[in-house]
Amino acid sequence: MDYGINAWGHGLVTVMPNGDVGLLDPLAPGSPPVGLPMIVGDLRARGITTPIQLRVQSFLDYGLVRLCRAFADSMAESGYRGAYRGVFPIKVNQQSEVVRRIAEVGQEHGYGLEAGSKPELIVALAQPLAEESLIICNGTKDDEFIRLAILSRKLGFRTVIVLESLNEFEIVRRVSEELDTKPLLGVRVKLTQSVGGKWEASSGDRSVFGLGTFELVQLLDRMQETGLLDCLVLQHSHLGSQVPNILDVRRTAAEACRFFTELRRMGAPLDHIDLGGGLGIDYTGERRPGENSVNYSVEEYCSAVVETVGHAMDEAGLDHPVIVTESGRFVVALSSMLVFDVLDATLYDVPDKPEAQPDDTHYLTDLMAVESYLDANRAQECFHDAVYYRDELRALFRRGVLDLRQMGRAERTFLYTLSRISEVERAKDSPSELRDQLENYVDYYHCNFSLFQSLPDVWAIDQIHPVIPLQRLNETPTRRAVLADITCDSDGKIDRFVLADGMHRALPVHDLIEGEDYLIGVFFVGAYQETLGDLHNLFGDANVVTIAFDGAGGFTVEHEIEGDSIAEVLSYVEYDPQDCLAAFRKRVDGAVAQRDVSAEERRLLISAYKDSLAGYTYFE
Ligand SMILES: Cc1ncc(COP(=O)(O)O)c(C=O)c1O
Repeated sequence: MDYGINAWGHGLVTVMPNGDVGLLDPLAPGSPPVGLPMIVGDLRARGITTPIQLRVQSFLDYGLVRLCRAFADSMAESGYRGAYRGVFPIKVNQQSEVVRRIAEVGQEHGYGLEAGSKPELIVALAQPLAEESLIICNGTKDDEFIRLAILSRKLGFRTVIVLESLNEFEIVRRVSEELDTKPLLGVRVKLTQSVGGKWEASSGDRSVFGLGTFELVQLLDRMQETGLLDCLVLQHSHLGSQVPNILDVRRTAAEACRFFTELRRMGAPLDHIDLGGGLGIDYTGERRPGENSVNYSVEEYCSAVVETVGHAMDEAGLDHPVIVTESGRFVVALSSMLVFDVLDATLYDVPDKPEAQPDDTHYLTDLMAVESYLDANRAQECFHDAVYYRDELRALFRRGVLDLRQMGRAERTFLYTLSRISEVERAKDSPSELRDQLENYVDYYHCNFSLFQSLPDVWAIDQIHPVIPLQRLNETPTRRAVLADITCDSDGKIDRFVLADGMHRALPVHDLIEGEDYLIGVFFVGAYQETLGDLHNLFGDANVVTIAFDGAGGFTVEHEIEGDSIAEVLSYVEYDPQDCLAAFRKRVDGAVAQRDVSAEERRLLISAYKDSLAGYTYFE
């Protein structure tokens, strides 16, 4: 079975000779892969149970270093005379360990941070940034936000306040007068051209943020009047997020340059052009413009940006400005994966044909006969016939003609027939509509994770992440399954999978073996997922572990954050766990007084309640 790892794996994932999925160190090419099931086994031995969000330090470093190198290389190749000063948007992954690592590794590249809120600015100001690194302040800002941003200049931070509106400028003007300190300012310009992809509707003219041409002119006049125009050093034009097509990147970057050259002509001393986010990840490995795929590499993106800005500035006779991007997804998406175990399965195939009985209705006899004319050419017809007979049998059950036992045999016969049709259909080389339809009747594998907590974008915006079993890949998978999570919500499932031959609604999986673990990995979940997740059914944060490879096929645990306990999760929704325990204890004591519960049972009940409060919210 080809899960398409070579296409979507970004060179970070491989299959080992024993059939386990292994991780490859991109910063130490040639070092042996590290088996993911081995990592999970080792972590369990240390008491860290699944589900686990596993972060790999070198994957994180690799995203950042590759981006900075690609910009440096394309600038050198094309003779670009400005610098690159990227910033990481904290909202894409706010975990302190991630932001700290990016700040540390970024020092060498003058890499900075983007803060879209006061808390994020507070985080940014506590990081070890290089002197030349930028802190870009986006989003709606109040007095306090602006005061802190301006004051931080006194400590040597290169904090740029990006103006989102005329009102914001008035606050900046007042606060900077009060503090008698000039700010570094940017202005967010609304581009008119939209980009394709998931966020097409909120790009271009329909963007919520930024100033249109008319407001821009008003702002410039006002800045001139108040003597603050000389503080305007940066133009910000966010291109979008996960932009699928490189031609969109070029078009919108060119429009941003047009605004830049005009603003320069009007006297603004701009020397930084910030193109925001948009650098996408190819989650599916299809390498074509789509919602979950892109038709370019990071290197191509950087060349396109550098070339477009360079040409535009040359044409306008301007110096090459510092190029800033706010790539979040690209830097962190690949850095982590979610690993969970399969707890149970609901199987939809029936290996043995139920036997005919003398009182069978003719619909059931007809259904049983479908198999007799099944072959590759008639598979579709057999499917239609089976569905028709099954529906007629269900109608008879509803009218009271068939009893429950007879209906049970009818359903089993239907599923048996579908299994046979699936075998015939799967033996064909090419995908077909019938194969898609048969994917409605696949197994459910019940898994130990919460989609809403750990993969919110899969639920909310149909984000695709590569998903594969982590072991036995040297055995042919015999089943197809949808992965259901542990919440009591029918939306809590993964039912879109990328394989080598495209998208499927079921994942090829192996039969579960009694007493043996069956692990599943969801890859490239490092961007946006960790903090967006919610507490549906009160499933809390999963355990988070950061590992580093040791270069010899092993690993070290660099950092561990224990997932939420039940008591913690209860307190998030304003229960006091001690009050809950007291109420439960009172109830138990009442039952003891009534003699419904013995002293020993009282001990058992209270310790079961207490243990649960202290335990992991997931299946242990
Ligand atoms: C202003 C701004 N900058 C940067 C980003 C990050 O974008 P991406 O994750 O696509 O790099 C976003 C996200 O939409 C954004 O709104």
